[in-house]
Amino acid sequence: AVEQTFSIIKPDATRRNLTGKINAKFEEAGLRIVAQKRIQMTKQQAEKFYEVHAARPFYGDLVSFMTSGPVVVQVLEGENAVARNREIMGATNPANADAGTIRKEFAESIEANSVHGSDSLENAKIEIAYFFAGTEIVG
Ligand code: CMP
Repeated sequence: AVEQTFSIIKPDATRRNLTGKINAKFEEAGLRIVAQKRIQMTKQQAEKFYEVHAARPFYGDLVSFMTSGPVVVQVLEGENAVARNREIMGATNPANADAGTIRKEFAESIEANSVHGSDSLENAKIEIAYFFAGTEIVG
């Protein structure tokens, strides 16, 4: 089925001017960018977005990292977009990511791993609504 998933191009990638190269990976793989904006996340936004990880030891560092520079938040649309995007991104830890994936090619570390993508359709809906109004998504 055609789905929408939520994506973030993280500060390590915007800092290295990789937005276009990462978007090319999505588009070459058949996903369409149906919403996109560059923002500076606030501490409160990052804390709430990653609330599910609040008890993890890396939570504080993750919030600092995600607010360390601009990010690009996006909605990607396509057939099986949630799973497809996870394939395009590769494993969370770039050391485990397959060749050709965004994280294998661009990520610096498990934290500075260049992109975030929703892990389920249910979370995609929640994450999209957290950053976008319906009128900002143009399919
Ligand atoms: P993301 O998909 O944005 O979701 C949570 C993020 O936490 C993850 O990508 C990583 O960038 C970051 N992170 C940092 N350390 C770890 C870790 N040890 N295990 C999993 N995720 C981590």
